[in-house]
Amino acid sequence: MNMVKPELLRGDITSLEVDAIVNAANSSLLGGGGVDGAIHRAAGPELLAECVKAAGERRHIPGGPCPAGDAVITGGYRLKAKYVIHTVGPVWYGVGRGEPELLASCYRKSLLLAEKNKLRSIAFPNISTGVYGYPKDRAAALAVETVKKTLEETPGLERLVFVCFDDENFRLYRELLGL
Ligand code: APR
Repeated sequence: MNMVKPELLRGDITSLEVDAIVNAANSSLLGGGGVDGAIHRAAGPELLAECVKAAGERRHIPGGPCPAGDAVITGGYRLKAKYVIHTVGPVWYGVGRGEPELLASCYRKSLLLAEKNKLRSIAFPNISTGVYGYPKDRAAALAVETVKKTLEETPGLERLVFVCFDDENFRLYRELLGL
């Protein structure tokens, strides 16, 4: 039983001093805009170098190197966080394309990867709710529900933070978390 109570912060995930911050990446793992861009800028070029290596090792994976719903861990380099867990959210096309299952998998696999690496603290951005267009209310509800369920399987985790960069997400999470 994990008694961790998810925390809510408003701001830039790259400033957090946690074991791992989660990146809303794309399947190439080679960086992009949004939070992906912010994390790569803050981590420095060594992060991209490790991502290029990981992408090479995973080049045969269908829909890869990191398919939607999957997660890959790298070092954090110049970030305060020790690690970055890169996960790829689904692009929202409107229900019926398995988006909810893929988004839930991002949160679940990121948490299980943190547990496997004996990490104690993790911070999530609002995956898929930017460029990928996932409706924020549906994404927030699914994120909170999936995290609460998966925490049962991550006894080692002591701290979990949802980081919101915009007002709407912050309001949604504050309501869902009863804060
Ligand atoms: N800290 C925390 N959250 C942030 C930050 C930041 N510095 N910058 C942006 N965000 C928030 C956005 O406001 C949004 O709520 O992260 C959430 C996810 O938005 P995106 O970064 O656009 O990610 P996503 O919608 O999952 O799209 C992924 O965008 O950047 C590219 O390479 C990435 O192709 C991939 C796609």
